[in-house]
Amino acid sequence: MNFLRASWFPLLLGLIILIVILNQVLFTSAATSNDFTIPDNPVSADEWQAPDINALPNGEQGNLIRYGRELIVNTSLFFGPKGKVVAITNGMNCQNCHVDGGTKSFAGCFSAVASTYPKYRDRSGRIESIEYRINDCMLRSLDGKPIDSSGKEMRAMVAYLKWIGKDVPKNKKPKGAGLEDLSFLDRAADPEKGKKVFLSKCTSCHGESGQGLLNHDSSFYLYPPLWGPNSFNVSAGLYRITRLASFVKNNMPFGLASHDSPQLTDEEAWDAAAFIISQPRPEKLFPEDWPRKETKPVDYAYGPFTDNFSEKQHKYGPFIPIQQAKSKK
Ligand code: HEC
Ligand code: HEC
Repeated sequence: MNFLRASWFPLLLGLIILIVILNQVLFTSAATSNDFTIPDNPVSADEWQAPDINALPNGEQGNLIRYGRELIVNTSLFFGPKGKVVAITNGMNCQNCHVDGGTKSFAGCFSAVASTYPKYRDRSGRIESIEYRINDCMLRSLDGKPIDSSGKEMRAMVAYLKWIGKDVPKNKKPKGAGLEDLSFLDRAADPEKGKKVFLSKCTSCHGESGQGLLNHDSSFYLYPPLWGPNSFNVSAGLYRITRLASFVKNNMPFGLASHDSPQLTDEEAWDAAAFIISQPRPEKLFPEDWPRKETKPVDYAYGPFTDNFSEKQHKYGPFIPIQQAKSKK
């Protein structure tokens, strides 16, 4: 009898707990049908996870993918001013903006590249391949030159990007792909306020004058520059304040910030971004960008525009009036 009681009791208790949990789960899903997460499980249903690089088999394809990742993580060693393939960039790494080899959510995450390319983009007014898009970042973010689209390095990076997105169905965009769209402030972002944020929260790594920090033999940056001659140029995606504020909010200070635990308020992120883009950087423009002027994003800072807002307002905001004028058309 004693034996029976002792073995039934935990079972019964287990059953009760199970019922309570099930109840909880069903109730939660009914209450927030779109945003359903199981308690105590950090990975929600639509959460994307990068495939495991260590699980890649040896062999030609595996090696190509590994080389592609290496090029994206340590770009400078291959294409930087002392690069061993060819010296054609400012010395930044793709990973400086596509964090953890482009696998971190809301950090220029590559999860939707394989599923959405080739695709039409307004900036070029044409259908872009992955190769074309990579060379865009070579020309702008790395302020460099394009690489041969059929060479080994390009094939390796494309293989890596396709491998990263291999489990994402065609045309689907997992949560966390690319960068987040922050809500607009109801004022212009303020470089003066941003300078205060920069001085208190960013200089320990990026330096007092935003120049970053090179390693001992200057072959790569330990901390990348935020402006100046070796930073991304004015035609890069990050020069647009919506992109930069979003990157900063979700990722900086590095190692502390993430989408789930941002370290800055939205205002601090917008203002810090405003300060960064108020500083000098390479002035390379591509006159063929945005062939249809009405498709320029609200925060593209170079006219001519199809509205009457100034270049300054397109650079720093306020963006709500621009957005409203756009949606009336
Ligand atoms: C200075 C920052 C920066 C650097 C360095 C950089 N990129 Fe980018 N890249 C961006 C931004 C910003 C975007 C646009 C993200 C967005 O708006 O969602 C982007 C977009 C892309 C995309 C398209 C992503 C998508 O989902 O549509 C690819 C592919 C890409 N970059 C590859 C690279 C590669 C490869 C390198 C290195 C050779 C590189 N990038 C270096 C900032 C950078
Ligand atoms: C603890 C060091 C650290 C701090 C503090 C820090 N960053 Fe960064 N930041 C980094 C590193 C490292 C990277 C590159 C990430 C990589 O390569 O994995 C980076 C990348 C960036 C980039 C994209 C690459 C570039 O150079 O343009 C921006 C923009 C940026 N940081 C802005 C900021 C801002 C704004 C702050 C302050 C709010 C800040 N960071 C604070 C270490 C730091």
